[in-house]
Amino acid sequence: MGIISNLRGPKTQQQGLPLSNTLPPSSSSASNKRKWCSLMPLVVALVVIAEIAFLGRLDMAKNAAFLDSWPEMFHKSHSSAGDRGLVKESCEEWLERVDAVTYSRDFAKDPIWVSGADQEWKTCGVSCTFGFDPSKKPDAAFGLSQQSGVATVLRSMESASYYSENNIAQARRRGFDIVMTTSLSSDIPVGYFSWAEYDIMAPVLPKTEKAHAAAFISNCGARNFRLQALVGLEKANIKIDSYGSCHRNHNGIVEKVEALKRYQFSLAFENSNEEDYVTEKFFQSLVAGTIPVVVGAPNIEDFAPSQDSFLHIKELEDVPSVAKKIKYLAENPVAYNQSLRWKYEGPSDSFKALVDMAAVHSSCRLCIHLATVIQEKEEKSSNFKRRPCKCTRGSETLYHIYVRERGRFKMDSVFLRSGNLTLVALEAAVVMKFKSLKHVPVWKAERPESIRGGDELKVYRIYPVGLTQRQALYTFKFKGGADLRSHIENNPCPKFEVIFV
Ligand SMILES: *[C@@H]1O[C@H](CO)[C@@H](O)[C@H](O)[C@H]1NC(C)=O
Ligand SMILES: *[C@@H]1O[C@H](CO)[C@@H](O)[C@H](O)[C@H]1NC(C)=O
Repeated sequence: MGIISNLRGPKTQQQGLPLSNTLPPSSSSASNKRKWCSLMPLVVALVVIAEIAFLGRLDMAKNAAFLDSWPEMFHKSHSSAGDRGLVKESCEEWLERVDAVTYSRDFAKDPIWVSGADQEWKTCGVSCTFGFDPSKKPDAAFGLSQQSGVATVLRSMESASYYSENNIAQARRRGFDIVMTTSLSSDIPVGYFSWAEYDIMAPVLPKTEKAHAAAFISNCGARNFRLQALVGLEKANIKIDSYGSCHRNHNGIVEKVEALKRYQFSLAFENSNEEDYVTEKFFQSLVAGTIPVVVGAPNIEDFAPSQDSFLHIKELEDVPSVAKKIKYLAENPVAYNQSLRWKYEGPSDSFKALVDMAAVHSSCRLCIHLATVIQEKEEKSSNFKRRPCKCTRGSETLYHIYVRERGRFKMDSVFLRSGNLTLVALEAAVVMKFKSLKHVPVWKAERPESIRGGDELKVYRIYPVGLTQRQALYTFKFKGGADLRSHIENNPCPKFEVIFV
């Protein structure tokens, strides 16, 4: 086998692998070349034999971990040949090596530094420090800083209807580089959703209260129609126990979520009707296993565990029809129970993918964002532009793609063949890669055990790094293989993020 594998080396070179990258320049390889010239007919015959033998070995290896066995095979045959000058690499190995340009900043030694109060988190995908140190120039600072080269960060969980400075466009105009708000279109969303904060899969308790719904509204004045909606429901004979100071008819200091558990419905009325602005009023209703009647985000369905798990008063005109639905569900236990089915069978993948985002602290997500931007800047430099990012042998080209899980920083390599540049192949390659790494999803420990799933990895979304979470979760999709192909060809060594559910 020794001589056969030696002969595979030059054959590959002829097919276009840059010589300098494959073979260290050495006199021994030059003299070998001369020898081959005189032995050419024999070489051709041996190459054919080699091909057959090689394919045979591939077949045998098929059922084993293919990616692992390939490099190993070459290693073995070369050590027996004893000639380092003729090392034949697979396209994968070659790309892994030549595309791996090192970045000038090593975050392990020089962590991302954010000027701001200490943050608490267990671990973060990139080394990252928060604190105040006047002697050190930070990568980012909260508020509008005058220092050049320091990214300015706006972070707020209030709605932009109340605090217009939280509007993304306005924040950018004011000079903020990074916006962190409840908007999923912001750079780093800071939502109220979280597995850790809410026991979302808590069991449903018997509905023992006589009133249809409970309300905890402390402030009757709001910049939407929530007060009118409350009045409208009462007029439509919906019985409401109001515990908050707005229209209070129930006294008693109660634990809100415990109280909600005994009602069929709860009024989850936000103070503004703003996209993605969904607060604890909604998530506490989910914990309690009561059906939230929502006045608030026009896209509340994006935040719901199932399509029929909530009722939505989109505009005041909806009040009569929603009142009718409340009465219908209240009198039909089977239909009512159907609305809570997600409590027994688990929420939708879309809900899991949203709430899983919060398994990584927003401050850590900020650091990952900063580190990614720093590296992307460097990738525009000439060193990175020289990366081949693809490897052509014969009629086939292998594309080098980088993938990481959302919430992590480190990228891993995945390869796609030109003959199979499809979304299915991308997904399969990603699953195979992460499986081989025995990857554990970043949300694994945080999601409730009953909906954590087994060890299998299920891809929910794969999208280019840099998209907002609104795009990633709801609006972006490659329009088939041709779209994916053009993305990969126009973005050498493209970087993707994957969301597992
Ligand atoms: C509601 O449905 C679940 C199964 O979907 C069932 O286990 C539960 O007992 C039902 N509850 C009522 C009150 O019917
Ligand atoms: C393309 O890739 C998919 C996923 O790995 C695989 O199932 C399929 O057989 C491949 N098709 C071809 C033509 O190689």
